Amino acid sequence: MSDAEGFWNERYAERERIWSGHPNKALVDTVSPLAPGRALDLGCGEGADSIWLAEQGWTVTGVDVAETAVGRARAESEHRDLPITWVAADLTEWAPSEDYDLVSACFLHSPVEFPRTEVLRRLAGSIVSGGHLLVVGHAEPPPWSRYAEAEADSDGHDGHDGHEGHEGHRHEHVFLGPEQELETLDLGEDWEPLTVELRERPATGPDGEQAILRDSVVLLRRR
Ligand SMILES: C[S@@+](CC[C@H](N)C(=O)[O-])C[C@H]1O[C@@H](n2cnc3c(N)ncnc32)[C@H](O)[C@@H]1O
Repeated sequence: MSDAEGFWNERYAERERIWSGHPNKALVDTVSPLAPGRALDLGCGEGADSIWLAEQGWTVTGVDVAETAVGRARAESEHRDLPITWVAADLTEWAPSEDYDLVSACFLHSPVEFPRTEVLRRLAGSIVSGGHLLVVGHAEPPPWSRYAEAEADSDGHDGHDGHEGHEGHRHEHVFLGPEQELETLDLGEDWEPLTVELRERPATGPDGEQAILRDSVVLLRRR
């Protein structure tokens, strides 16, 4: 079992549900105008984004390293009668067998060592001409996160507590603003940036603290 698999399965096992069950607003806002096709949701967690995409008519594959989370996602999609392909796999090793019109990575952060940019670049290669890459991430850690001090990781959705333990797994996590995200991805002339934005959203911490979180939202179109 990889460190990532161990960490994230343990993280999800802490509670019956970790995330809010609502799709990320940045995904909803940026993807709503796009014509549905095949979508790949990277680090899909408990599946809220994948499920929302499927409800909009996308043919969705959701991939996450945590079998626990994928099991919850699968149960919810079956309950809603949505035919989503769920894959429990480590993205550092997993390779798709098809192309996509959309690859979405929302809060694909991890306190465990993870070559995020490398994974995003490689999987962007599976996007067809005219297709889109959406990368939504924390531009800075939530103030209540233990990782705020260590500059590491935390929350994904509004309503989540953003609380991470497992200090033994800490590694230095770099939080990127939207321009930095774009620059780091460095996908080249083939990609047209459609959205490169810093977005703010209100959120509630584990002890009821209110804060404004800042997210990087980058949407690119493959020419
Ligand atoms: C902060 S959560 C975000 C979950 C979801 N996308 C959301 O926005 O709520 C990060 C997710 O990435 C997954 N993840 C972390 N490292 C991974 C890896 N190496 N391969 C696949 N998934 C990974 C975790 O299991 C977790 O579900």
